[in-house]
Amino acid sequence: MKKPEKTLAQAIAERRATPSFDGSPIPSEDLKQILQAGLQAPSGYNMQPWRFIVVQSPEQKKRLRAASYNQAKVEEASAVIVACGDTDGWRKDLDLMLQQGLAGGMPESYAAQARSSVPNYLSSFSSDKMHGWLNKQVMLAVSFMLLTAETLGYDTAPMEGFEQEKVHEVLRLPLSYWVVALLGIGHLKGPDKFDGGRFNIAHTVFSEEFGKPLK
Ligand SMILES: Cc1cc2nc3c(=O)[nH]c(=O)nc-3n(C[C@H](O)[C@H](O)[C@H](O)COP(=O)(O)O)c2cc1C
Repeated sequence: MKKPEKTLAQAIAERRATPSFDGSPIPSEDLKQILQAGLQAPSGYNMQPWRFIVVQSPEQKKRLRAASYNQAKVEEASAVIVACGDTDGWRKDLDLMLQQGLAGGMPESYAAQARSSVPNYLSSFSSDKMHGWLNKQVMLAVSFMLLTAETLGYDTAPMEGFEQEKVHEVLRLPLSYWVVALLGIGHLKGPDKFDGGRFNIAHTVFSEEFGKPLK
């Protein structure tokens, strides 16, 4: 049974990294709504370099679990969204991004500038720098999906415990893909995780420059 929907504030306050899921299937309309939220995330130059593989079949979840240090929740989740970045996405999608932008009111001068600045900027990246860039973009989309799933009454589990090469093999990913995170979605089974708490604002936030407290 689906849990009641929540406001965004409730979802943020009540969310825990789900330790165990009951495995019940997720309706495709809900899954699509969650994925659409990911697609709405902002990204550098609007290049949208994320790619998502949705794993729901029992056989594929089992294989993915084996590629994820045997984490049981990978197999138990209703769906696991494997969030990847495509290191070559900007090469393939620059024209499409500009075409859509121009249709939505992007000034011609902006498009002309982006046509040269995007390749100039991104083609200079080392592999490590590109992975760092993709991590930023893809995790924002993951956050949008995670929070949307929580507002719809689902429980979620973000995961970085997986082996890059093994996930590549299981999902038959193109070589240009970089796996960033797994997002398990479903319904909690058993007791929820403890609340680990958070550092307070004084510990973490500064005003105007490092070390000055925010009043
Ligand atoms: C990027 C990321 C990767 C994570 N990877 C794992 C993981 O592989 N396995 C796991 O059990 N929990 C994982 N977690 C969950 C964290 O341990 C959890 O969010 C943290 O302890 C805080 O607990 P809370 O989310 O319940 O507040 C991950 C969380 C994030 C944000």
